[in-house]
Amino acid sequence: MVFYTKMIFAVLFLCFSATCVIAGDPTLEFEWKVTYGTIAPLGVPQQGILINGQFPGPAINCTSNNNIVVNVFNQLDEPFLLTWAGIQQRKNSWQDGTPGAMCPILPGKNYTYRFQVKDQIGTYFYFPTTALHRASGGIGMLKVHSRPLIPIPYDNPAEEYPVLLGDWYNKGHKTLKSILDSGRSIGRPDGIQINGQSSKVGDANAKPLFTFEAGNTYKLRVCNVGLRLSVNFRVQGHTMKVVEVEGSHTVQNLYDSLDLHVGQCMSVLVTADQTPKDYYFVASSRFAQHPHSTVAVIRYANGNGAASPELPPPPPENTKGIAWSISQFRSFRWNLTSNAARPNPQGSYKYGKINITRTIKIANSRSSSNGKLRFGINGVSHVDAETPLKLAEYYGVADKVFTYNLMKDEPQEGDKVEVAPNVVNGTYRNFVEIIFENHEKTIQTWHLDGFSFFAVAIEPGRWSPEKRKNYNLLDAVSRNTIQVYPNSWAAVMTTLDNAGMWNLRSEMRERAYLGQQFYLSVVSEARSLRDEYSLPETQELCGIVKSLPKPAPYT
Ligand SMILES: *[C@@H]1O[C@H](CO)[C@@H](O)[C@H](O)[C@H]1NC(C)=O
Ligand SMILES: *[C@@H]1O[C@H](CO)[C@@H](O)[C@H](O)[C@H]1NC(C)=O
Ligand SMILES: *[C@@H]1O[C@H](CO)[C@@H](O)[C@H](O)[C@H]1NC(C)=O
Ligand SMILES: *[C@@H]1O[C@H](CO)[C@@H](O)[C@H](O)[C@H]1NC(C)=O
Ligand SMILES: *[C@@H]1O[C@H](CO)[C@@H](O)[C@H](O)[C@H]1NC(C)=O
Repeated sequence: MVFYTKMIFAVLFLCFSATCVIAGDPTLEFEWKVTYGTIAPLGVPQQGILINGQFPGPAINCTSNNNIVVNVFNQLDEPFLLTWAGIQQRKNSWQDGTPGAMCPILPGKNYTYRFQVKDQIGTYFYFPTTALHRASGGIGMLKVHSRPLIPIPYDNPAEEYPVLLGDWYNKGHKTLKSILDSGRSIGRPDGIQINGQSSKVGDANAKPLFTFEAGNTYKLRVCNVGLRLSVNFRVQGHTMKVVEVEGSHTVQNLYDSLDLHVGQCMSVLVTADQTPKDYYFVASSRFAQHPHSTVAVIRYANGNGAASPELPPPPPENTKGIAWSISQFRSFRWNLTSNAARPNPQGSYKYGKINITRTIKIANSRSSSNGKLRFGINGVSHVDAETPLKLAEYYGVADKVFTYNLMKDEPQEGDKVEVAPNVVNGTYRNFVEIIFENHEKTIQTWHLDGFSFFAVAIEPGRWSPEKRKNYNLLDAVSRNTIQVYPNSWAAVMTTLDNAGMWNLRSEMRERAYLGQQFYLSVVSEARSLRDEYSLPETQELCGIVKSLPKPAPYT
């Protein structure tokens, strides 16, 4: 009955006033110029990728259901694409910005992304998916606020501050790419940067990261935009209250320090309740053979004195550190009574009661093919095709571009990999369980486009069906990334209710570039606008579909 009433309301809303619709879902327009320019995140000047002259790029600050229009002018000398990681692109993988879903923006050309941040809130970031561009920049924050009528489960902070941090290489994307293309690893990063800067303890010239007024509470939105290293962050003398993880309001616990793995984002509240002076924000690597760390200054307005050189200690490393980190992962739980993007409490979706229709178990591998380094999943190492996979499928010529299901749902014996576009047929509306097994000695992070998933478990050892009894089937956080510790596994669950061509990738850029990713093709046979938007009229075409007649749009 309630549903029926809402439907009528929606129809009235649409029918009676066009301005009503516009007022309901405003459009935010951006024009971005992507250029090269000099940056020095670790103090060493190098060629960076700037957006409107900035690194990090401009933040998109929006509200649930806003329509976002970004006209991107590629003034680099290489094809370029941006993805909006964590934005679900409902029915709209056309705008997802991965090379499997779209043609790249050629040098000197522009392309206008158009998408809606439908029924989402939270902290996300955008980044380039082409070549190894992310190693040089093109990164920025994407914040989605709750609609004004939907209360958030904490008081409005005095101010919000974006923190984009992560490891950094001084070599630049062209050199790094040529190393990978020659079949070698890019090796270890040179340091850690925070919002394009890095400083040392005691550096009197360090520009403050941001300013606190004593007594106020601030929201820090923090993302790990690095290429490889997990990071732990902490604020000298202050505790942090986690309120949001990748689009889910969490049960609000206090932490002295937080692990953030590559590609992950979270929001924390920090209250300026200490003696007014400077304090260090510290970011240090986790589980790295050659550790790195950096600091940034948080300044109290009218404060008196430099930050103490005594930094808050990092959490333990090695086996004890992994146990510490897993326990912190488990402490992130969904707040079942708070609202998300819609006015119903988020926990009303009982994912633990849904039967699993498919289990995809994947293991990452490192191997070589023709003497060159490759990374794979279950025996397949992905390469992009000249024709985006989504376009090949839409035009009915998929068989000329790729083979479905080369990759099996189970890890394969041995390290041998087949190098080919890796596309898995994910049946529309299936409820899938994805198990990530890491048989290697390094930590991994994975990300899925197009969906949020429930991150139900992380445990040491190997997965077996009996482990399902250990899943959190009540209040696991719904998110878009998951870390997998060395010799451990992780499990996530999601409903494939979003038709499109969706990338599941290693967040380690070197690994993704050398094949550790696949695309989940979710097709609604209905070819109906109810399930998926048609190819936009203005979409750039490339590869073999360029000369083919356009298929009839969905109806
Ligand atoms: C960001 O968006 C929120 C809500 O849409 C708004 O209250 C706030 O003023 C915006 N901030 C900036 C810096 O534009
Ligand atoms: C390129 O930018 C121009 C000028 O803003 C705009 O009219 C045009 O639609 C854009 N082209 C694409 C493909 O987005
Ligand atoms: C969960 O959200 C509710 C509703 O906004 C809030 O009152 C409550 O304090 C939150 N619970 C926890 C444990 O954070
Ligand atoms: C789930 O599976 C069980 C056992 O096969 C079955 O009894 C039950 O009806 C199924 N539930 C749903 C919602 O399909
Ligand atoms: C994908 O799987 C569905 C359901 O099993 C099947 O109907 C469809 O034919 C498959 N598509 C391809 C291209 O294999």
